[in-house]
Amino acid sequence: MKSPPLALYAHFPWCVQKCPYCDFNSHTLRGELPEQRYIDALLRDLEVQLPDVEVRPLTSIFMGGGTPSLFSPAAIGRLLEYVRTQVGFTNGIEITLEANPGTIERGKFAEYRAAGVTRVSLGAQSFDARQLKLLGRIHSADETRRAAEELHAAGLSNFNLDLMYALPGQTPEEASADIDAALALHPSHLSQYHLTIEPGTLFAAAPPTQPADDIVDEMLDRSLSTLEEAGFEQYEVSGYARAGSRCAHNLNYWEFGDYLGIGAGAHGKLTNLSGGFAVRTQQTREPRRYLAADPNSLIRKSISIRDLPFEFAMNGFRLVEGFDDELFEARTGLPNTVLEEALSSLVARGLVDRGEKRWRASPKGFRFLNEILVELLPEAESTTNP
Ligand SMILES: C[S@@+](CC[C@H](N)C(=O)[O-])C[C@H]1O[C@@H](n2cnc3c(N)ncnc32)[C@H](O)[C@@H]1O
Ligand code: SF4
Repeated sequence: MKSPPLALYAHFPWCVQKCPYCDFNSHTLRGELPEQRYIDALLRDLEVQLPDVEVRPLTSIFMGGGTPSLFSPAAIGRLLEYVRTQVGFTNGIEITLEANPGTIERGKFAEYRAAGVTRVSLGAQSFDARQLKLLGRIHSADETRRAAEELHAAGLSNFNLDLMYALPGQTPEEASADIDAALALHPSHLSQYHLTIEPGTLFAAAPPTQPADDIVDEMLDRSLSTLEEAGFEQYEVSGYARAGSRCAHNLNYWEFGDYLGIGAGAHGKLTNLSGGFAVRTQQTREPRRYLAADPNSLIRKSISIRDLPFEFAMNGFRLVEGFDDELFEARTGLPNTVLEEALSSLVARGLVDRGEKRWRASPKGFRFLNEILVELLPEAESTTNP
């Protein structure tokens, strides 16, 4: 079996302030940022993982968080330089940095670009002052606008804006106004996430009132037509891009490629050539423990052959275009007949469409992806520690 493309995810677990809706591994920064120590830990983490991997040049790097833009361009540059020398980059590699508009001083994006960053993902969330306050954001809409101007000025016009919808008390008109405000900043990519109340967050303890399903559907219909008119194409459940600006890193997840995960709580997925299986990795989650931990504490769990079709399809059906037979066989090493059996009832229920050697969620299935996934779920959990 040929190895899939290899990407790298690096997690940065601190934020200026924890947002009440967020269940990412992100923590309010108290005291000074342990910048150099954390970069040292990331380098060690990579060094420990590399011997397990059939090393090939990286197709993308994603520095996510938390808030990676709390780290200085020099620190980000040190990480990227080490990765370049130890692993190597493909030509045209995409290197994304997540940034919070409240952490961007003048000139900082130009320095990130000089450090090797090629793409930025900016957490706008909304342009409505009331919503930004409710969401506990540390920035105003004007700061998001200034950050976008800085991105263009720095030559980083290939940037994404994260927006959330179904916000407390939000009307379809307000959601449309957010899309219009985002488009006015000329991003190349837009991610639009349904605000989800996650267990363990402040919002879970005191849930805000969100709009009813029919209102949310109207928001989605409106945003899709506005974005299409503006030259964006929806290519994933939450992802819209101009031609040539799809996020290579996320595409690699959805196409079941390999990725190394470094940093507190980071996940990875690697094809284990000798065993013929894929392996999932996970690092120590709590930042202080991660900093103190032996990087050998990485947890590795193999994905059993039985779970592979589900794991593959869970990602592939997120794509509007779905996936073809060749990709399924190349990534899982399994014959397509396995999927034909598993998907036949979903095709009969009109949730999955079978095209010319291609599977995709039908328009109905795309809105109810969970139903597809439940049907594909293996009967019992069967991951094992090697
Ligand atoms: C790591 S953050 C992006 C960078 C930076 N931390 C920021 O917030 O500006 C990832 C994105 O996930 C989305 N997100 C986080 N929690 C969410 C939730 N509960 N429901 C929907 N989207 C959520 C937000 O749009 C957020 O921008
Ligand atoms: S949404 Fe972003 S800034 Fe807010 S807590 Fe989560 S990771 Fe941090």
